[in-house]
Amino acid sequence: MFKLTLKALACALSLGIAGLVQAADPIVIKFSHVVAEHTPKGQGALLFKKLAEERLPGRVKVEVYSNSSLFGDGKEMEALLLGDVQIIAPSLAKFEQYTKKLQVFDLPFLFNDIAAVDRFQQSADGQALLKSMEDKNITGLGYWHNGMKQLSANKALHEPKDARGLKFRVQASAVLEAQFKAVRANPRKMSFAEVYQGLQTGVVNGAENPWSNIYSQKLYEVQKYITESNNGVLDYMLITNTTFWNGLPADVRSELEKIIVEVTAKVNQLADELNEGDKQRIIAAKTSEIIQLTPEQRGMWVDAMKPVWKEFEGQIGADLIKSAEAANQQ
Ligand code: LMR
Repeated sequence: MFKLTLKALACALSLGIAGLVQAADPIVIKFSHVVAEHTPKGQGALLFKKLAEERLPGRVKVEVYSNSSLFGDGKEMEALLLGDVQIIAPSLAKFEQYTKKLQVFDLPFLFNDIAAVDRFQQSADGQALLKSMEDKNITGLGYWHNGMKQLSANKALHEPKDARGLKFRVQASAVLEAQFKAVRANPRKMSFAEVYQGLQTGVVNGAENPWSNIYSQKLYEVQKYITESNNGVLDYMLITNTTFWNGLPADVRSELEKIIVEVTAKVNQLADELNEGDKQRIIAAKTSEIIQLTPEQRGMWVDAMKPVWKEFEGQIGADLIKSAEAANQQ
């Protein structure tokens, strides 16, 4: 009897010690993304790591994987759902499998500028979108800006007819496919990691990207012309696995949420600076001619691409499109 009790005590002690050791292990958060470090998202991921490890010492460890080094476009969402990575920040164009509502961000010429995008994201409708995929186990933690997209090609693009017949790389978005079809070009879905080579080898002739991505992926080296079209937005939703997030100790979760608010503000302030700086660096590199559209030419692109709104109205919702459009006026 005594022997048994001693054994039980030893067992309980060893379990207790194991428990203590376990409790002392930091929670590992893998943050994977597809862009370079010197970009708004790249900088945001690093700042998140720094603040999380400073403010939750020993409790949280953040591993950042940039440039598709852990998971590329096609795989990162799946990896998040499988628990192989805990935070990602895909472009808003990459969610159509999970919700059609976020397609609103891809509609061509919907937002006048990033300030309007920001107002919509902060509105009640924008905030509700962060929660729109919880039934799929995806929780939105915030929006991170990159910037407005510019069209590029190996042919000068002044008017929509200049794009006719050209092959354009697009993100995995039906709206973006429709946008290029609207100017009788050929869209081709391709993961981000393949864009440089795709342009270099002529698999595609053109693309659309914010200045930051054009610069950090060196796309300007393989595109003779860049049209400052501001034809749409490329922003991100910072997302996590809902089960993982809700399972975090409450104090850790609330500290991480505070950190995310702080990092988001910093990323969104940095995004403008980085895009403007990268635009200047591209101009200085003199490998691409930068084309400015006249108001008439811009009007032609708007007229050619805007029918896409109607095409997707049924999926996105007319009210949501109106609400996004209204953000231009405020
Ligand atoms: C793209 O595929 O062009 C972008 O979504 C990449 C990124 O994350 O900025």
